[in-house]
Amino acid sequence: MAQEKLAGKVAIVTGAGNGLGADCAKVLAGHGASVAVVDINLSAAQEVAVEIEAQGGQAMAVKADVSVEDEIKAMVAAVDGRWGRIDVLHNNAAALDLKTRYADRDVCNVEVEAWDRSMNVNARGAMLCCKHVIPVMLRGGGGSIIHSSSGFGVMGDATLTSYACSKAALLALSRMVAAQYGKQGIRSNAIVIGFVLNEHAQKEVADEIKQILLDQHLTPALGSPRQIADVVAFLASEESSFVTGHAMMVDGGFTSHAPSLVPIRQFFERKGDNKW
Ligand SMILES: NC(=O)c1ccc[n+]([C@@H]2O[C@H](COP(=O)([O-])OP(=O)(O)OC[C@H]3O[C@@H](n4cnc5c(N)ncnc54)[C@H](O)[C@@H]3O)[C@@H](O)[C@H]2O)c1
Repeated sequence: MAQEKLAGKVAIVTGAGNGLGADCAKVLAGHGASVAVVDINLSAAQEVAVEIEAQGGQAMAVKADVSVEDEIKAMVAAVDGRWGRIDVLHNNAAALDLKTRYADRDVCNVEVEAWDRSMNVNARGAMLCCKHVIPVMLRGGGGSIIHSSSGFGVMGDATLTSYACSKAALLALSRMVAAQYGKQGIRSNAIVIGFVLNEHAQKEVADEIKQILLDQHLTPALGSPRQIADVVAFLASEESSFVTGHAMMVDGGFTSHAPSLVPIRQFFERKGDNKW
């Protein structure tokens, strides 16, 4: 029987108490990894860890605010103390609460608190996790780091300025890590995520916005958390051992087509053919 692709590996997933991070933690555990479910919300992290263990996996819940260096140091020490190594880091945590999102608008209307929160959690948090995890990874001979970026990090948009800038910073951080530690066996890749219907998006995002976004994806449906988790598991595993410094579009083609595609398609539909 084939060995599970993450058997014997230890993974940290930040922001894993909810949303995509929770699914990523469960899928990594399903492939045999021991998973630290890290979140600012301890009870949410505990629920995910209990679920993983109920499925026969190995998990520990750790409370940490990724933006606070002492908490990251303690989190890394706890994971290293329990399992003695760290092979995978998934920088997934992001400040996406309504308060931050509603205060994070176009540049002239960004509230500085929203900028600071987005930068501190999304960008500084990822850097701090790298800073304290990499020495443990190096001791074990290497590892794989995955950073969850977003289409907002690579394209202009009408709002969420701070979020976008923090997600662009992750792309640079990913390349810096790949360049600095690649020779010592550490790979670092970013995933540029399209629109994924997690629980809060299902409930909170207006149907009209979902339809506008769906029109811009080339796939029949918007993304699912499982589709993201499968790519994270691939990047975490040896299956991707020659992939590093890469920003992978995991976005149903959202960023791969001409901006005119949707109106042109509608034009051709009205016209009844696609002769240019
Ligand atoms: N859902 C999407 O469509 C989408 C699209 C592009 C990118 N992404 C990225 O995917 C990742 C997950 O997104 P999601 O939609 O699942 O978000 P979510 O809000 O459902 O989950 C984020 C998790 O991070 C935790 N968190 C927040 N601040 C934290 C902190 N300071 N320290 C530790 N944990 C903290 C939250 O408690 C929560 O569990 C994010 O990085 C997001 O930018 C998501």
